Amino acid sequence: MTLQIDLTGRRALITGAGQGVGRGLAHAFGRAGAAVLVNDLRSERADAVVDEVRAAGGQAGSAVFDVTDFDAVAAAVTAQGAVDILVNNAGNAGAAGYSGRGRFADSDPADWEPYLRVNLYGAMYCTRAVLPGMVDKQWGRILTIVSDAGRTGDANGAAYAASKAGAAALTRCIAVENGRHGITANNIALGTMRTPLTEPLWAEHADSPQAKAILQNYAIRRPGSPEDVASLAALLASDHGSWITGQTIPVNGGFSFAL
Ligand SMILES: NC(=O)c1ccc[n+]([C@@H]2O[C@H](COP(=O)([O-])OP(=O)(O)OC[C@H]3O[C@@H](n4cnc5c(N)ncnc54)[C@H](O)[C@@H]3O)[C@@H](O)[C@H]2O)c1
Repeated sequence: MTLQIDLTGRRALITGAGQGVGRGLAHAFGRAGAAVLVNDLRSERADAVVDEVRAAGGQAGSAVFDVTDFDAVAAAVTAQGAVDILVNNAGNAGAAGYSGRGRFADSDPADWEPYLRVNLYGAMYCTRAVLPGMVDKQWGRILTIVSDAGRTGDANGAAYAASKAGAAALTRCIAVENGRHGITANNIALGTMRTPLTEPLWAEHADSPQAKAILQNYAIRRPGSPEDVASLAALLASDHGSWITGQTIPVNGGFSFAL
């Protein structure tokens, strides 16, 4: 049997697709035949990915908006037309020097806001905006990119982990409420990836004690790549995924295990 993942005729909105994991998903979904709406905050990133997908023979358009602005999300979805597949990928994991990473006991409530706004509210806003169209069509796929930190806990990243765990819970609720409409909702929980977000760690210090200590926790001793996520995401987004819903599936090189 040949398993062919065909997303022809589907319109897929991928948030935060201007680089990293989202960009990889835009490429994979484009190759599978979907019309890809490449969202990002940064128009130059979204436009570049649109060009790449088109150059590879796929269909793509850019959808520049901030997932934390519900009015902007709703306006974009109205302007673009019904979305069949939503990937809630835009995320805020914090950057070097960014407040909010550190011991929870030392943190300030204002530090938590950016994580919750992008990772939880962003997923809620986008999901809320696309669901009515999916119900009308009686078909839909919602994928949310979460983190193993939200499953296992993580020192110095409580707000991030809590925001991802909240988004994962949202997914389960959406799955229960909407399964009867032909809509599935699942989470993909990532371990440490090699994306622009984490590139400094790998590019400059691949042999550093810090990088080695991270990889020591992985059965497969390398960071993940966007391609590692793409096949599962495409499968879940296709008709082959019609009986998989409400799940959180780790793609994590064996960092942790789902029982
Ligand atoms: N990189 C990792 O190691 C890792 C690990 C676990 C989970 N994740 C999750 O995977 C997802 C993708 O991670 P990545 O490493 O590709 O991230 P990244 O930071 O490299 O790329 C994220 C993209 O999202 C865009 N973005 C950020 N905020 C946005 C907003 N409010 N509205 C629209 N676009 C916005 C950014 O401009 C950027 O282009 C995130 O949800 C992240 O939390 C990543």
